[in-house]
Order: sequence, then C-alpha cells, then structure tokens
Amino acid sequence: MRERIFIGVAWPYADGPLHLGHIAGAYLPPDIFARYHRTKGNEVLMVSGSDQHGTPITIKAEQEGKSPSQIASQYHQQFLDSWQKLGISFDLFTSTSTANHAEVSCDIFLTLLNKGYIYKATVSQPFCSQCQRFLPDRYIEGTCPYCQSSGARGDQCDECGKPINPVELVDPRCGICTATPQFKDSEHFFLRLTAFEARLLDWVKQQTHWRQNVLNFTTRYLEGGLKDRAITRDIAWGIPIPVDGFDGKCIYVWFEAVIGYLSATKEWAKSNGDEEKWRSFWQGEAKSYYFIGKDNIPFHTIIWPAMLMGYDGLNLPYDVPANEFLTIEGRKLSTSRHWAVWLSDYLSRYDPDPLRYLLSINMPETGDTNFSWRGFVHRNNDELVATYGNLVHRVLTFVHRHFDGCVPTPSELDSRSQTLLNKARDTLNTMDGLLYRCHFREAIRTAMSLAQEANRYLEEKSPWKMIKQDRQASATALYVAISVLSCLRIVLYPFLPFSSQKLHEFLGFKGNVGDDGWQLILPTPGQKLLPPKPLFSKLDEKLVAEETSRLGYVQC
Ligand code: MF3
Ligand code: ZN
Repeated sequence: MRERIFIGVAWPYADGPLHLGHIAGAYLPPDIFARYHRTKGNEVLMVSGSDQHGTPITIKAEQEGKSPSQIASQYHQQFLDSWQKLGISFDLFTSTSTANHAEVSCDIFLTLLNKGYIYKATVSQPFCSQCQRFLPDRYIEGTCPYCQSSGARGDQCDECGKPINPVELVDPRCGICTATPQFKDSEHFFLRLTAFEARLLDWVKQQTHWRQNVLNFTTRYLEGGLKDRAITRDIAWGIPIPVDGFDGKCIYVWFEAVIGYLSATKEWAKSNGDEEKWRSFWQGEAKSYYFIGKDNIPFHTIIWPAMLMGYDGLNLPYDVPANEFLTIEGRKLSTSRHWAVWLSDYLSRYDPDPLRYLLSINMPETGDTNFSWRGFVHRNNDELVATYGNLVHRVLTFVHRHFDGCVPTPSELDSRSQTLLNKARDTLNTMDGLLYRCHFREAIRTAMSLAQEANRYLEEKSPWKMIKQDRQASATALYVAISVLSCLRIVLYPFLPFSSQKLHEFLGFKGNVGDDGWQLILPTPGQKLLPPKPLFSKLDEKLVAEETSRLGYVQC
C-alpha cells in the first residue's frame, strides 16, 4: 500500500545566510528521506519556507538601511537558489509573509481563543528606557532561572535548551545597550499550555520510536511542569493580532512559524488545483515527520502538538528526528565569530554531492559531529573517487574497450557471483529498514560497503586478465558488476542524487533514476552504455589551507 508521508522542515530565519550546520542538522536529512519515500512509490509532501517575522530581521534591516521585507526577500531568493544547487527537493518552499499564512495563523489563533486555550492577561514587558523601546525576547539577557547559566536570552537558554519568558530571567540586561531594563505593563495573549500537560505527557510516553535524545529531553521538560506562554509581542513587524484594540502588537513569531507547516500544505493544495487535498496529509493515515536541529525540539514536541491538540482534528507529529550540532574544525560553530562554512560559498566552489556525502556519512544523529576541510578532501578522494567512482569507471571503460560498450551476456553465475548479487539485494532491504527509521548515517555506510565488496569481487575475478583466456568468464563478471552498479545508483540516489542520475544514464537507463523504484533492476544484455566519464573528481589537498584560512575572517 502507498503510504502518505508529510515532511515538515524547520523554517530558516530570513535574516542571514545558511551554513553547513543548518544543512547537516535540518535540510539534508529530510531530502534523503523524501527521495527514499518517493522512490518507494509513497506519496510525499515536503514543505518549508522562510521564517520572515520576528525582531532580528527588523534589527538587521535598521542596520542596513533597508526594510525588513527587502532583507527577507533577499535571503528567501538565496535559499531557493541553494535548494536548487544542493538538490533539496521541496514540494513547496514558501514564506511566512503570504496572505494564506496569515489567514491560517489567525484561524488557529481565534479557534484556540474561542475554546479558551488562549487568554488575555496583562504582563510586564522589559522596556529599556535608554533605548526607548520594548525589548524583544532575544535582546534581553540574563541568568537562566532553570540552570543558572549566565548567557540566557529572553526566549531560550542555549545551555539547557529551555524556552524562557523574559520576566523569569535573573539579573536581566538590555541586549542592545546593557542597561537594566524596567518592566512596563502591556496586554497580551497567552497559550494555556498547562491545560495540555497531562495529555502531552501521556502522548509522549507512547512515542517509543523517537530518538532517545528527543524523547528524553521532551519527557524531562514535561515532568518539570509547563507554564503558560505569551504568544503575542509589542512589535509592528509580523501578523497583527486578529482582535480589536491591539494595534502595534503581533502574533509571536514562534507561534505562527510552526503553523507554517499547515499553511504551506494548504498553499500547495490550492496551487495544485484541489483546495481540499491538504487533508490527505493532515488527517487519517498520513504520518508526519518534522526535521529540525536540536535547539528547536520543544517547539515541535510540546508547543506545536499542544496547539494541534487544542485545535483538534489534525495529526500530531509521528516523529521528530532532531539532529545534534555540527562543529567546524573542532570548534563550536558561531556566526558572529564567522566560525562557519557558508553554504553559498561552498556551492560556488564545489559540487553538491561530495558535501551531501560527507554530511550523510558523518551526520550528527546521535551526538555532535565535526566538519573539517581535511575530512572533506579525504572522504572525497579516498571514498567517493577511489571506492565508488573508480568502480564505475573501471567497469565502464573495460566494457567499452572489450564489449563494444554493451552489457555482456553472462553465463551461469558461480556462487561467488550469486553471493555478491545477494548482498546487493540485502543492501536494498537493510537500507530500506534504516531509512524508514531515519538512520541515515548507517544507511549510507551500508551502501558504501556494497561498493567495497564489488571492488573486491572485481579484484578476485580480474576480468581484465581473464579476457584473453576466458572471454565468457570475463563477460559474466562484468555483467554482475554492472548489476551492482545498477543497485548502487538506486540506494545512493537519496544521498547523491546528481551522481546517481549520471550513473543511471551511463548505464543506459532512461528517465529519472528516482522513478525506477527501490529495487534491483538487472541490466539487459546488449543494453548500450554511454562512454565513461568520471563520476567525481579528485580534490587538491591545497584547498584545506585555503579554506581553513577563510574561517574566523571578519568581512568589513
Ligand atoms: N526559524 C527557526 C530557526 O531557525 C525555526 C522555525 S521552525 C518552525 O530556529 F517550524 F517553527 F518554523
Ligand atoms: Zn537598552
């Protein structure tokens, strides 16, 4: 039976460029997952968009003398360009600035308000009299009331990961001028999270298929007790509160951003000519997956589920496979210190697949992992080029030289050849299970071990030596090797879509490699292969020094 898979991907803030940490954490995994499910013949919808509201973007706009929407659309364009170059295959990548998104957000807001899950209250908001403004959550700093770390912000503590209400911060300071803010009264709306505590805990306890880190974090958080949270702000940039008398105030960026998953689905349905089609991904059998970095966990395992429970009638997340962080050259990634590798820089200099390979085989699934330029060159040269690329190249060149570039006709397979073909079939099965459960790193390792095994097989069979004394044995070995390549183009497609498509064409297959199904298609004897071209190119060690010297460099 065809499954329906909804894939929600964290909405990147449109106030700055993407770096490799974002890609390893939240953008590459869902693309692998989506391509895998599409190949299996399942119905997939993968959506996201740029997160265009909130204060950081207004501050950036002020600094650059532009409007927030100019900044947002500039980065939105850059995101679209990056997805295309890196092959992140969204069905829709929209933004939070659409009329549709505002409409869906207001519907959820008003429905929860009518049901009593949102209520009005007067709160004291941090106001900096030196700066003469209400301080946005991120621009008030202080000591975390939960873990006592000193660098917490008014929205979240990076140390313990807990969301924070600004009033809770101990020893607060203005994040812009460091003055001690005063608190002024302002009327706001609150989400009654306390009403969902028991239901959430009950629900979370049943999610035994979640990753350990996600499950532990969420359970601990819930057991610590929930507090109601303000979901509106004193800010003019955003979605205005859909209630009279709240001029100059907007819905909090996090409250509406998560609604983007639903609004994007509705936008997709409308633009596909069937307004009601969104239901097939939000009601009934469909499973929904949310791909995010670990700093976004509580918003996707607690707040968004609570909103959905309150709204009622929509599917809760099935899985939230949050990733850990990527360090760069052994150090914590920091955008302010320019200790980051920017995606658009990478894509302007190198091919997409080597990065996809490195970030997959080294994915921060169960703990932080490190990116280094040396590792990049090494993985590219010793694994992609030497193991996989050479296998392809050797086989294709030889078939062109001795068999007119056509798949040779095999004779009966010996047990060694059978064993290799069985390993190819096992690889498809094993990877199927791993990918289904979002174990991406283990999955690509399994594929690479098939490539290694095929290399060993060719060493043993040495068709290049056999060709003179036993042409038929050589033909059989090549036929088996081409069969393994046919398997590799499929199993590596979710990870390396560009080179899989090339290999698909080299092997004489037509159309898109992703349309061939998750299966071993044996080549037809006589099938014409294209003249071989290298699948990957070797990288020069020199780039290690060049690239590392770019780190930490501050542009002025
Ligand atoms: N913009 C947020 C971030 O980059 C993520 C928002 S995910 C969403 O951390 F689902 F809420 F949109
Ligand atoms: Zn100030």
